Formats: sequence, structure tokens, C-alpha cells
Amino acid sequence: MPLTDCKDMAAAARGNTAIAMHAVTKRFATPAGSFTALDAVNLTIASGEFVAIVGKSGSGKSTLINMIAGIDRPTCGEVMVAGSRIDDVRESDLAKFRGRTIGIVFQFFQLLPTLTIAENVMLPMDFCAVYPPARRAARARELLDRVGVAEQADKFPTALSGGQQQRAAIARALANDPAIIVADEPTGNLDSRTAEAVIALFCDLARSGKTVALVTHERDIARVVDRTVTLTDGRIATDIVGRRRGDSHTIKELDA
Ligand SMILES: Nc1ncnc2c1ncn2[C@@H]1O[C@H](COP(=O)(O)OP(=O)(O)OP(=O)(O)O)[C@@H](O)[C@H]1O
Ligand SMILES: [Mg+2]
Repeated sequence: MPLTDCKDMAAAARGNTAIAMHAVTKRFATPAGSFTALDAVNLTIASGEFVAIVGKSGSGKSTLINMIAGIDRPTCGEVMVAGSRIDDVRESDLAKFRGRTIGIVFQFFQLLPTLTIAENVMLPMDFCAVYPPARRAARARELLDRVGVAEQADKFPTALSGGQQQRAAIARALANDPAIIVADEPTGNLDSRTAEAVIALFCDLARSGKTVALVTHERDIARVVDRTVTLTDGRIATDIVGRRRGDSHTIKELDA
């Protein structure tokens, strides 16, 4: 391992780095043979940073975010999240760690259809037991209020619009107050106005100190994030510092 990367991993272990990937390669077995979706990727994200991950379809964005979220494991290389190596831990340990440390938001919301919105938000709290049982229902409602869907709390997911479901999914991602939020095309299934409001929510999270890694195709995202990382064929093609501003946080506002 080169010295600089060793330093990155050591810094990650001390806590001022939220995410550190070193030489992360992911290969998938396909009928046509082994396919390299990520090719020796090195990426360090500081605590509190707001990073957009962009690139063409098939460039490896979801694969990368799945490595950070611990949804999938690298073929080789190291992934450190919030000071812990996650590439080689047991699945049962990983699930608890993930529940406390990382909030995950998906393109298709993935709310459980048989639970109410409030129950969906309470589920990660019940799983991780960070908050006492007596606190959980009120916390779920506070989080739903924070993302603007408090009045939907007792409905089932199918009764909500896409934008409302995604807001609820963001509330669920915040359930255990994780330091890190990752999202894979959270606006991919929303109309542009709703998408803008959801991006604004991620901006709010970043401003409140969360580390946010956001996979997106939103055209103007570079204007609101700290950094934009572009993937091409499983490699980081560019890594550009953005222009996030503290005083104005929607894409539209920044355009004005
Ligand atoms: N489980 C898998 N088995 C085989 N190949 C896979 C698997 N998952 C992803 N791939 C391949 O790896 C490459 C990267 O996929 P990935 O889903 O990370 O792309 P992406 O950048 O998220 O694309 P999109 O913008 O369409 O979501 C693609 O060529 C994809 O076909
Ligand atoms: Mg994807």
C-alpha cells in the first residue's frame, strides 16, 4: 500500500475521515466471463463532506455506493466507514453497524408496504435499539415532520406520492441518527420539481453535519455539493471540488 493511502486509512481510523476506500476492485461473474465493475478505486470522503457520485449508466456508481453501504463486498481492497473496516466483517455484525452508522436511501424508496409510514421509520430503531422503546414513536414523528410528511405518518406507503414516499424513506434513513447518509439516485423516479425538493433535503442534511454520498443524474448537482466524483468504466475519471454555499440550498435558488 503506498504511504499516502496508509495515511488515509490511519486517518480514517482516527475519525476525521468518514469513508476511505483503498484499491477497491469489484468483479462480477457473468456468462461472458468476469466483469470488472470497479477497478482499484481509491476514494476518501471527509466527515461532513457532501459528495456527488456521477457517471454514465453502467459506470459503477451503484456498485461503489453498495461497497460503502456494506450491501456488497469488494473482490479485493479495503473499505473503511466511520473508523471501522467493513469489507471483512461478518454479515450479522455488519447489519448492526450499518443500522447505526449509515442511512441508506434508494431510487425506489423500498418502504415496507404492510407497515405504516411511522412504522417504517421505527423499524431501524427497533432493530438497533439506539433509542429506548418509549422514545421511538415520537422520534419517528419528529423525523417525518422534519422532512415534511408528518401528516402521512399513519398511512401505508401506497397511499403516498413518490415524493412523499422518498421523504419518508429519508426519515427512515435518519432513524438512528447515522453520521453518514448514502443515496443511490434518490430522485431517479421523481418529477423535476419534486426532485429539487428532495435534493434540498440532502443539502439540509449536509448542512446539519452529516456526511452525504449521493449518486445522481441531476444536471446541476455540482453547484450544491462539496465535490463531484465522476466514474468512467469503474474508475474515478475526475474528482472536482464544488461550490456548496451555506446560505442557499436548492438548485433553483442557486440558479437565481
Ligand atoms: N450483480 C451483477 N452481476 C453482473 N454484472 C453486474 C452486477 N451488478 C452490476 N454489474 C455490472 O457492473 C457495471 C456497473 O453497474 P452499476 O450498477 O454499478 O452501474 P451504475 O453506474 O449504477 O449504472 P446506472 O446509472 O444505470 O444505475 C454494469 O456494467 C453492470 O452491468
Ligand atoms: Mg446504479
